Amino acid sequence: MRLQNKIAIITGAGSGIGRGIALSFVKEGAMVVVADWSEEGAQETVKLITEEGGEAVFVKTDVSKKADIRQMVRTCLDRFGRVDILVNNAGVYKSGSLHEISEEDWDAVLDINLKSVFLGSATVIPEMLKLGKGKIISIASIAGLVGFDKGGPYCASKGGIIALTREMALEYAPQKINVNCIAPGVIRTAMTKDMLADPTTQQFLTSSAPYPRVGVPEDIAMAAVYLAADESDFVNGEVLVVDGGWVAK
Ligand SMILES: NC(=O)c1ccc[n+]([C@@H]2O[C@H](COP(=O)([O-])OP(=O)(O)OC[C@H]3O[C@@H](n4cnc5c(N)ncnc54)[C@H](O)[C@@H]3O)[C@@H](O)[C@H]2O)c1
Repeated sequence: MRLQNKIAIITGAGSGIGRGIALSFVKEGAMVVVADWSEEGAQETVKLITEEGGEAVFVKTDVSKKADIRQMVRTCLDRFGRVDILVNNAGVYKSGSLHEISEEDWDAVLDINLKSVFLGSATVIPEMLKLGKGKIISIASIAGLVGFDKGGPYCASKGGIIALTREMALEYAPQKINVNCIAPGVIRTAMTKDMLADPTTQQFLTSSAPYPRVGVPEDIAMAAVYLAADESDFVNGEVLVVDGGWVAK
């Protein structure tokens, strides 16, 4: 198993990609902290893990709040004694023309998607420095690499994650803390449910996507397993695009 006895915190693990990562990490031998502001979804993830004989603990966490992030890390330390892996996954999408989007929506997207990466990483790094090793993986998006119509704050937040990943990777490489991010393409989750139900979008995706299917959370989970495992110790500051070839066009 690739993550035998590793301790991982996964934010937004109550749904979609985060849940997929949590389940895959446990299959590979890890114990996980399921952090989410939605108790219902997160408890379901914990249930799925414990039913399979795995170990998981839920912490109610709003990733945009420093006090919640501190509590998330504290719970992990109290329960498991250390943090080997942090996955900054929680995120939201708000659509709208830039000249119409409200300041509140802009702030919410930037706080939940990008500030959370700063807060989460800054809080676990001191613990990883004590261990002399660590893995930080953030879920960015291809929307951080190419423009997405009416996705201004989302694109800005994901581009920010990519830039911050590269900065942190350089800063903490000497201490063997690997910092990488994954840029998924369109993945079938609650976030994309409405979009994928729209026939125009379906037609667009089928006619223009190079790979003949939409992504699923497991596609991203396996990329996260790789970046969390010891085998990827020399991979640092990388943006791992998992999109069926979308941005290769
Ligand atoms: N689905 C896609 O096509 C896609 C593509 C690229 C990137 N992503 C990114 O992947 C990540 C996961 O998205 P998903 O598709 O699984 O969406 P999702 O809506 O299924 O899951 C998001 C999870 O994050 C949680 N969350 C939201 N705001 C939170 C907050 N403030 N504090 C704590 N938890 C919070 C939600 O409760 C939910 O459990 C996001 O960062 C998203 O931007 C998704």
